[in-house]
Parts: sequence; C-alpha cells; structure tokens
Amino acid sequence: MEKFVIIGGKKLSGEVEISGAKNSVLALMPATLLASGTYKIYNTPDLRDVKTMSQVLIEIGVNVNFENHILTINTENVSKYEAPYELVKKMRASIYVLGPLVGRFGYAKVSLPGGCAWGPRPVDLHIEGIKKLGAEVELDSGYIVARAKKLHGAKIHFDKPSVGATGNVMMASVLAKGITLIENAAKEPEIVQLGEFLISMGAKITGLGTDTIEIEGVDELKPADVTTIPDRIEAGTFLIAGAITGGKVKIKKCNPKHFEAVLLKLEDAGCYLNVGDDFVEIEAPDEIKPVDVTTAVYPGFPTDMQAQWIALMSIANGTSVVTETIFYDRFKHVPELVRLGADIEVNENVAIVRGVRKLKGAKVMSTDLRASASLILAGLVAEGKTEVLRIYHIDRGYERIEEKLQRLGAQIWREKTDEY
Ligand code: EPZ
Repeated sequence: MEKFVIIGGKKLSGEVEISGAKNSVLALMPATLLASGTYKIYNTPDLRDVKTMSQVLIEIGVNVNFENHILTINTENVSKYEAPYELVKKMRASIYVLGPLVGRFGYAKVSLPGGCAWGPRPVDLHIEGIKKLGAEVELDSGYIVARAKKLHGAKIHFDKPSVGATGNVMMASVLAKGITLIENAAKEPEIVQLGEFLISMGAKITGLGTDTIEIEGVDELKPADVTTIPDRIEAGTFLIAGAITGGKVKIKKCNPKHFEAVLLKLEDAGCYLNVGDDFVEIEAPDEIKPVDVTTAVYPGFPTDMQAQWIALMSIANGTSVVTETIFYDRFKHVPELVRLGADIEVNENVAIVRGVRKLKGAKVMSTDLRASASLILAGLVAEGKTEVLRIYHIDRGYERIEEKLQRLGAQIWREKTDEY
C-alpha cells in the first residue's frame, strides 16, 4: 500500500500541464469495438482506470499497447463478448462495452458494476436504452446478458441525463437499422468527443452537445485516430490547488470552455483569473470568499468538482452551502476533512461549510477518487503534516499528481505503508 505525506503551508506557484480526459478516453476505448482494425488514441492519460479498461478489452480479444501517452488498439481478433465481474467491480465504466458489443456482435455479457441494476450503482437507463433498440436483456446471477439479431432505431427519452447511458446507447445505435433519437441526452464534452469520434469512423450523428442526439444507423464503420480532449476535472482541481494555498498557478494544455462554471465560481470566491485559449492563470486573493454551489449536469458546476470545492470553502471567510444533485451519497470526504479541522455539517444532499481560520494536519483516508483530491488539497494548506491513506483511489484518475504538485512547490511525497 502507499500513502501521501504532505507538509502544508506552501503557496503553490509555477506551471502545470493538464493530461487527457479520463472520462473521454474511457468511452473512446470501447468504441473501437465497433469496427475491426487499428486505432491510435493520442494524449491518453497514464491512469489506473485506463489500465483497467485495457484489461477489459484484452479479455475480449483486443490488442492494446500504451506508450508515450498513445494507445494503439487493434480489434481484428475480437473473440469474446464478455466483461467479467473481477474487472467491472474495479471500474464502473467497464459497462461501456455493453453498447458496442450488442450493437456490432448481437451479444454481450457484462457484469453489473455492483449492487443491482436499480441501485446503489444503477444501470437501469443503460438497460432500458438498449432494450428500446431491440435487444433482449436478462439479468443472470450478477450479469447483464443482452442478445439481438439486429438492433433497430428507436426514440429513447432518459428521465435524467446520464453520461454513461447516453454513451452506451449512442454506441449501440450507430450500426442499428434506422434512426435513433436520444432525448434528454448528456451534453458533457466527453460525450461530444465520443460522438465526434464515431462520426470520424463513419457514423451519422447530429445534435451532439444538445438535449437531443439523432443517430442514423449505417452498415459498417472503419477505424480512426483521435486525440483525447484535456481533463476538465484535473484542470479545476489544480486551479483550486493554487487558490487554497494562496498561490499563483498557470494550468496549460486545457480547454477553459469545458469548465466555465468552475471559473465563474472561482472568480466569485475572489480569485484573479487570466483565461487564454488553452491555459488559465489563477492568483489567490488574501481571503477566499464563501460561495454557494449546486452541482448540475453540464454545463453546470460538475459533481466531480464538488469535493474539491468543499475543501476550498473549508478555509473561506464565512459560511457556504454546497448542494449535490447528481449522486445521493457523495460526501464521504466530509468526515475526513473534519479530521483536518474543517467545520462541515451534512444534511441529506446539502453540506453547510463554515470556513475556519486554519486546518491542522492529520492522518486521513481516501474513500474515492475525487474525495482523495479534496483531502490532498486540504493537506496542502493544513498546518503541519497530513498523511493520506489508500491513494490507489487517486491514481485511478490523476496522472502522478504528486509529481505535478511538487513542480508547483508542494511538499508532498509518496511513501510505502502497511497502514490502510
Ligand atoms: C460519469 O459517470 C463519470 N464517469 C463520473 O465521473 C461523473 O461523476 C458522472 O458521469 C456525472 O457527471 C465516467 O464518465 C467514466 P451518470 P456515470 O450516468 O456515467 C444515475 C469521476 O470522478 N443513473 O451521468 O456513471 C446515477 O446514479 C467519475 O471521474 C441512474 O439512475 O454517471 C447518478 O445519480 C465519478 N441509472 C446520475 O444518474 C443509470 O442507468 C448521473 O449518473 C445510470 C445513472
């Protein structure tokens, strides 16, 4: 096991490059199942989740090679149409193979990500979507088994915009016979990139980035290359690292248009921003102002930035209210932040954050990817030493985060530990 040790109090300064978007590449990789041949995915981040998705594809018979942030994928020997529990339980996004497998091969056996289809990690929207396209779906001892002679177009309306279900249905429908309409579709940049990638493979898709995506099925697709968009959540996380430490940081190789809601909230909190086409410079104010946030689907304030925002608000000069509307239980970072001296009260899906003068270092435990990020951010400003345990969570979605932070002057390092 490994932990991070952080000595807080350093104002971060300097420049950091943002890596490719985890939540884009995790959709682009399974999309390669839709056509036989060789693909290159450029600007791929070096993450545990990319390794896990690679294992899922290798299990299916795909050849995957990762070097210099380039994924080379060959899908000429796809031979199995299953994603086993051992892999899916490590990463919910493995379910993204369901749509392409049933769409191209007419069969898919994919483990449920954990819990049942309806909770706590629901996939009912994925299942209902491919059923509408004509698949027979049964749940058999923890697996989704989907069969279809040939999928046909359909009109699908999602009760709530789901990133994963929009991606899965889009991938299932590109080879279906006829027109598919996805209403109340997700508009996240990662889904737009997935759609654009499918178009570059020969798919006919319109409406990307709007509430309604229309797909006209084609007979076959061909391989294409793609460059992953920058990770908007990593970008937001590093901006908050600059703000929380009272520093001045420039993030490069990002796309500020993909995280405007975060930039506006950072300005409301008193930060000075210089925004370019592919960079953002942030300078922290002497005091962080309390700013309320309610998470929302894109282009609203991202749920994946909620934990990091609470870390920043924990040292603001006043009280703020953070409301989580996307996931019902996404406050596991709060008890750990309280161990660092934060004053936060959670009531259902609302966190009341009373800013404190300072946080004090302590031993804390990561519980999930973005919770880990919020603990690291708090540790950077807490007085003294903070130890963050179970950092395998953070390595899922941030590429060598401690090295990037060290380059900004942070006193953070990785240590082996038998504590967990
Ligand atoms: C994607 O997850 C992201 N993961 C998540 O990022 C992100 O938090 C989430 O979208 C919301 O933006 C990837 O892209 C790999 P959803 P996804 O389907 O697709 C409910 C990170 O930290 N729902 O948009 O699983 C669901 O419970 C990760 O990088 C159903 O009810 O999210 C949630 O309440 C965490 N039934 C809401 O919809 C379904 O069939 C939104 O979930 C599917 C989802």
